[in-house]
Amino acid sequence: MPAKKKPVTEPAPVKDETKEAAKKAPRKRAVKAAVPETPAPEVSAPAAAVFGEEALPQPRRSVAFIGSECYPFVKTGGLGDVMYALPRALSRQNCDVKVILPRYRCIPQQYQDKMVYRGDFMMDLCSDGRSFFVGIMEYVWDGVVYDFIDNEEFFSWGNPYTDLVEDIPKYCFFSKAALAALNYMDWHPDIVHCHDWQAGLVPVYLRTEFAGTPVANAKSIITIHNLRFQGLFYNERLRYWSGLPDYLFNYDVLLQDHGDANMFKGGLAYADMITTVSNTYASEIQTPFYGEGLDAHLRYHAPKLRGIVNGIDCSIWNSLTDPLLVAPYDAADVTAKKKKNKKALQATLGLNIDEDKFVIGLISRLTDQKGLDLVNAILPELIDGNTQVVVLGTGDPFYEDSFRYYENTYKGSVCANIMYDEGRAHQIYAGADALLVPSLFEPCGLTQLIAMRYGTVPIVRETGGLKDTVEPYNMYTGEGNGFTFDRYEQHLLLDAINRAKTIYFTERDHWDELVVRDMKKDVSWDNAAKQYRALYLELKP
Ligand code: ADP
Ligand code: GLC
Repeated sequence: MPAKKKPVTEPAPVKDETKEAAKKAPRKRAVKAAVPETPAPEVSAPAAAVFGEEALPQPRRSVAFIGSECYPFVKTGGLGDVMYALPRALSRQNCDVKVILPRYRCIPQQYQDKMVYRGDFMMDLCSDGRSFFVGIMEYVWDGVVYDFIDNEEFFSWGNPYTDLVEDIPKYCFFSKAALAALNYMDWHPDIVHCHDWQAGLVPVYLRTEFAGTPVANAKSIITIHNLRFQGLFYNERLRYWSGLPDYLFNYDVLLQDHGDANMFKGGLAYADMITTVSNTYASEIQTPFYGEGLDAHLRYHAPKLRGIVNGIDCSIWNSLTDPLLVAPYDAADVTAKKKKNKKALQATLGLNIDEDKFVIGLISRLTDQKGLDLVNAILPELIDGNTQVVVLGTGDPFYEDSFRYYENTYKGSVCANIMYDEGRAHQIYAGADALLVPSLFEPCGLTQLIAMRYGTVPIVRETGGLKDTVEPYNMYTGEGNGFTFDRYEQHLLLDAINRAKTIYFTERDHWDELVVRDMKKDVSWDNAAKQYRALYLELKP
């Protein structure tokens, strides 16, 4: 049953030149969601105008990205980075991309101010046919169109995610509203590309309630960024809020053990293609250890499962143009400039200022996924007078407190920044010598890619995307990008860090070569965007 009852919201505020259009726009007519409404004026992504039609690969493909976060509007982790950077990389591959997001209240005002009203309508949602307001606010930026689904009842919270009691209704609404909005805008993409469980019901709605409507001509792809989160809850709640027919609540689609229903499971079953963000994770999730209860389901759907390794946006992550660094640098002067950035970081954080210390960074959500119990266990052994540890992250209070404890115990050598701060992240990537990513599992991981781009050597566990992107350093051939360990054991992590320290302190010329090699490694989105484009063409030749 509905968790909270607030009045249906008023339409979102309308800005300047669009005010007149908004006044004339249709308001709150109760119509079936799947039926296309009078279209609002079309705004197409100016990708060709930006990049030049001839330079782009042919043919053009149109794609609707549907997901719950996107930098710089809202980001809690790597999903936000991907939703920002991949559409841009795709528009350079001649894809016309619309990104569909919830219009959360926490989106900074500067972006709210740039959104223009695109239209609104009423949409049936629940099994008893309750009707909800769907507003569409649009922002066109650098060749990508962002359409924000507006409804204050669902999206007025401070954070995008609260708990599943609230989040199940929120993302049922969002998944259905995204498709209804595409029909409403009369924009019928070749591909509907869904991301994570929050968009899990999109492929299901597409082939059921929206079958026979224009948007159903699209093929659907669902990308797994993190299988740990699935939208798994009592089936009664999903039945009520999704309004989906009973026949879908079977063990091949939405039902799971113990009377639960699973939004991600349904999306994986109904999508035309499943991707995940590295090849190793694509294999791992078919095993019980990494499969989070869906390994059998994924083995069944394996013929349509692919791994495509993420990239990073190299214009944001560019150590030469990064305005947040005291000493910008490239591969030619990294050795000297990194020392300056290191000293500035030490001064900012109250660490002992010494360019010869080995500074290890850790930038992460503080959760069990990230291998922090291993870090906790060995931290005292790291602090030997030559080593400093800088943590940046928020999350589980246990880890927040334990890193604060270490900061107090090892003053001048450990700094715990228990906060989310993009600027500080840039300074740590630039000022640290090594970055720790000892994850229990890691679908792709972006921090090791950013670190390499900033000449900061990754120390990682060989799992998921970490395995696919960090080649172990070979002290005999001098090849590789970082230091790695395989089994999830604290002493293996300590050993990997000690191997890195040995090269740093005793073979500095080899260390410097490693740093330069990392900076030159291609970690951009270009390769992944080409693979996604090929997939789109495979589904829509
Ligand atoms: P995940 O998505 O599992 O959190 P990723 O490595 O894919 O991990 O992405 C993490 C992203 O979030 C990176 O861009 C990283 O720099 C950023 N990040 C994580 N924690 C913080 C923090 N406390 N402050 C600033 N940025 C952070
Ligand atoms: C998830 C994963 C992370 C991945 C990111 C972007 O949050 O935990 O490994 O890099 O999504 O795909």
